[in-house]
Amino acid sequence: MGINILGTGSYVPDQTFTNDDFTRFVETNDEWIRTRTGICERRMAGWEPVWYMGTQAALKAIEASGIDPSEIGLVISTTVTGDFLTPSTASIIQDKIGAKNASAFDLNAACSGFVYALDTARRFLETEPSMKYVLVTANEALSRFTDFTDRGSCILFGDGAAAVIVERSDKMFTSHLGSDGSGANVLFARSLMPAPEVAVESDFEDNFPEMSLNKLYQNGKEVYKFAVAALPKAFELAAEKIGVTKEEIDWFIPHQANIRIIETAAKKLGVSMDKFVVTLDHYGNTSSASIPLALDEAVRSGKVKKGDKIALIGFGAGLTYGGIVMEY
Ligand code: UT7
Repeated sequence: MGINILGTGSYVPDQTFTNDDFTRFVETNDEWIRTRTGICERRMAGWEPVWYMGTQAALKAIEASGIDPSEIGLVISTTVTGDFLTPSTASIIQDKIGAKNASAFDLNAACSGFVYALDTARRFLETEPSMKYVLVTANEALSRFTDFTDRGSCILFGDGAAAVIVERSDKMFTSHLGSDGSGANVLFARSLMPAPEVAVESDFEDNFPEMSLNKLYQNGKEVYKFAVAALPKAFELAAEKIGVTKEEIDWFIPHQANIRIIETAAKKLGVSMDKFVVTLDHYGNTSSASIPLALDEAVRSGKVKKGDKIALIGFGAGLTYGGIVMEY
């Protein structure tokens, strides 16, 4: 059983941060950021809540789908930057959009979150016949825990949200999800300081005593190495399950982390960059929101059309990765 994406939607905050804006905080320059990452600008949420961004994206996806929100059976929200530890962002969005018959939960698989959530949505639709539609909404405000003193990471991230409404269908669908937790300490952000007596282990505190509460730590080189291998691997492991080939894919929509990661992976796969959707230049890395943001943009611009075969490929903290190959 596959799924049909009925409608997509997205929302980004108004405030734009150019590469030059970072020269106010750290020693950097536009040329370095453009050539090493492909990023020119990104959006910043300020104090705009994550649930608000997700709600706006969800409303647009609902409008594009032409459904009544009361027909949504499940809301899955992906975020690493929820406004609350509890309740979930999904519960708030469920109320704001009037999805009064839906269950709701958050899913955190970092930048792979959207791929994990779409795969989860399909599984719910397969096993719960009374469920008609699932809303997957990816909402992130990475600026909340960006370390603006670290020039190696602060220039990468942006804020935004995007959503899809899906229903069951007999369209082609295959997926593969993976995780390598031994890499958990190369990309992390703490939410709560542990009591001193329990802070004993740890790959985290002992090795990174300088890390402050609530800020993102990234070992860029290690994450880069993981990413250039994970991107082609996630696609291949998903595709080989049903024998779909890279030549059959109309559009590759990868997590938008660094243009050099995408170019290296494209080369490894032997696929032209023309087949990759890239939004990195204007949105930067928006974690789990980056794939659906790129999908929504590609759908609305007429690039991705019904019947196209698309590959959605995520990778990120965890270290997690995941690939979905499906008919749009
Ligand atoms: O969602 C997944 C999360 N993250 C990723 O996928 C990120 C993966 N990693 C990367 O994209 C890259 O590793 C970075 C973009 C983070 C860094 O690029 P790099 O080519 O690996 O640079 P580097 O860390 O090797 O640094 C090269 C030089 C260093 O200077 P020295 O030691 O050679 O003098 C850095 O200090 O560039 C310097 N540098 C900068 N210079 C200007 C690092 N950041 C900056 C900066 N502006 N913003």
